[in-house]
Amino acid sequence: MRTIFYLFLLALLVFSCTGKQVPPTVDAKNFDKAIEGKQVKLFTLKNQKGMEITVTNFGGRIVSWLAPDRNGKMEDVVFGYDSIDGYLNAKESYFGAAIGRYGNRIARGEFSIGDIQYKLAQNNGVNSLHGGVNGFSKKIWEVVQNNPLELNCKLVSPDMDEGYPGELSVSMNYRLTNDNELIIQYEAKCDKPTVINLTNHSYFNLHGAGNGTILDHQLTLNADFFTPIDSTLIPTGEFTPVENTPFDFKKPTEIGTRINSDDQQIKYGLGYDINYVLVKSADQITTLAATVFEPQSGRVLEVFTDQPGIQFYTGNFLDGTYPGKKGKIYGYRSGFCLETQHYPNSPNQPKFPSVQLNPDQVYTHTCIYKFSVK
Ligand code: BGC
Repeated sequence: MRTIFYLFLLALLVFSCTGKQVPPTVDAKNFDKAIEGKQVKLFTLKNQKGMEITVTNFGGRIVSWLAPDRNGKMEDVVFGYDSIDGYLNAKESYFGAAIGRYGNRIARGEFSIGDIQYKLAQNNGVNSLHGGVNGFSKKIWEVVQNNPLELNCKLVSPDMDEGYPGELSVSMNYRLTNDNELIIQYEAKCDKPTVINLTNHSYFNLHGAGNGTILDHQLTLNADFFTPIDSTLIPTGEFTPVENTPFDFKKPTEIGTRINSDDQQIKYGLGYDINYVLVKSADQITTLAATVFEPQSGRVLEVFTDQPGIQFYTGNFLDGTYPGKKGKIYGYRSGFCLETQHYPNSPNQPKFPSVQLNPDQVYTHTCIYKFSVK
């Protein structure tokens, strides 16, 4: 009896020293719902290291993401809601979402392919944002395959969906590796020329979502230029060197150091809300775009991509009235997004790499979010 007692004490000690107390994440039951005849569910990916990511097929959204700190303590590091109703009634509607057909802005909600002009919803002032009113973030994706390390979903967006031409078939794959990476791979084909720019809109806070601001996080961005914007956040078409601007993150720099600079570009975004031109490695395969380090927990997030740009957004439109999971409040500048992408408004900007997809082509995009500790 006494031996059992000592063994129990020992087990308790080992458990508390390794510190792997895993807080309960979201309850899958709260995501079971039929919407317009389609079943919505919550799916869980979990690797050998205990990293756990939950995803709902409503908007292909990452709902929670448990990542260890340097002592192995897990925290949920992304914004989200506890239930599907949270997402359906959300004030900020892009938490964790798959964004399409066109992530970011299209000026005045219009573009042309050949002689045909297309009109989109102007859902962000005069511009169209993140695929319109009923973009991919609000669609119910069909789950094709799911195992503990992988979720594959597909979506068929019909011709003229949200004003975009051509039927577009999209495949999106989330794969969690045992190296604590989430590899997101998109593939799409169309039956008429269209435009496409998919991305993921996760808000991260490496202290844990709802645990204060992200101003003390240190960011490194592999970019020599950014695409400056007008007052409606549409790129002017120029490339501005980051040197001697608050946008220079070539060396690790705290996000908060220059976020309130007396700088017109900062003022337009109310903080950081800007697209960077990524430096690509010579062989053109997926390169390291960004690294974020949070010194208190030791968590490090690296972002790799094959895309030409990345939108860095610091949650400047969050006003402290967004209650998220477990009643935590997601306040002003309490989350950052690093959205791998083509540059905003590319359909209207001939100087930017083309975002046109033709029926004989396949759109591909890889984005890797990798966690480690330092
Ligand atoms: C944009 C912001 C926008 C936010 C909405 C970001 O991708 O850059 O301007 O407010 O999405 O969640």
